[in-house]
Amino acid sequence: MFFVANPEKLISARPAFQVALHGWYAVHQRKLPWREAPSLYKTVVSEFMLQQTQVVTVLPYFVRWLRELPDFATLATAPEARVMKLWEGLGYYSRARNLHRLAQAWVATPTPPRTPAEWRELPGIGPYTAAAITSISFDEPAAVVDGNVVRILARLTGEQRQFRDGTEAVKHFTPLADALIPGAPPGTHNQAMMELGATVCFRQKPLCLTCPVAAFCAARGAGEPEKLPRLRPKPIEAKFVIRAFCLDRDRLLLRRGQASAKRLVGLHELPEAADLDVKPVAKDLLLTKRRAFTRFQITESIYAVKPTSALFKQIAKDETLEWVPLKQLDLVTLSGPHRRWIHDLVQAPR
Ligand code: ADE
Repeated sequence: MFFVANPEKLISARPAFQVALHGWYAVHQRKLPWREAPSLYKTVVSEFMLQQTQVVTVLPYFVRWLRELPDFATLATAPEARVMKLWEGLGYYSRARNLHRLAQAWVATPTPPRTPAEWRELPGIGPYTAAAITSISFDEPAAVVDGNVVRILARLTGEQRQFRDGTEAVKHFTPLADALIPGAPPGTHNQAMMELGATVCFRQKPLCLTCPVAAFCAARGAGEPEKLPRLRPKPIEAKFVIRAFCLDRDRLLLRRGQASAKRLVGLHELPEAADLDVKPVAKDLLLTKRRAFTRFQITESIYAVKPTSALFKQIAKDETLEWVPLKQLDLVTLSGPHRRWIHDLVQAPR
């Protein structure tokens, strides 16, 4: 057993580190649909879906997407509403719009890109996704570095520095991650690192006893892997949103997300009371939900609002507001929380 307390030692142990990591990955990797008969299209779709989302959540979406939109050309010509509908519930909807635009750019390009720099010109592609796609599909020696890889490298090297945020930590560890690649098939190496982060080197209670690279790990040697990486705690901001649940017989009032709120384009949501110029009263409170989203702790309160004639006038003037028959709710795209709230409220006796 030997401990590596700094990056140089880890780099000099690279051949043995790779043998341990890749040998483990060959045997223990999960069977994932984008790894079976891999193609560039499958890699691109899976990498978009896996941004900020766990594998278990992605699996059913990926399978359905491939069935309905099996290649770049089909995706490029699909209507945006269909693309958004297939993404419904997966969150971070700009990914779906960017993937759609990427497919359109792809079919229009005579020489498809190969390098990470070229890929980064395409919509929705940051350094992580560019490295993932080009290493897996074109053997480019570019390391993927996200929170999982930062965690692994901080522990392996016993890095005690406190980082301002994840971005600073990614920047710090990218040269080391790149230096661990030479001599290995880059796509396999990157996926082995991802797999280690997702299935062994957990944030809490990492499985050091079965870790294939425990022998190289400074934090394990020091006995406190959970303390690394050291990231400055994020300030959490509280946000309060008041929404209106307005039914007119069997039609529900929804608001279509606008281009000005990029995150919401193509999505419908329960309108905010302020958008309708109504001030709900306490007795009409139907539901209060708290949820965490990025650095916000959001409290959403949903109130019953009566469709008065003043409100009808207001709705007629505002083309973002739309009456949707309850029977047709399945045809519009709602984010996961909005669909759950509406489902609960429509079921509830009023
Ligand atoms: N996370 C991001 N990309 C991934 C991949 N290709 N396999 C597993 N997890 C991932």
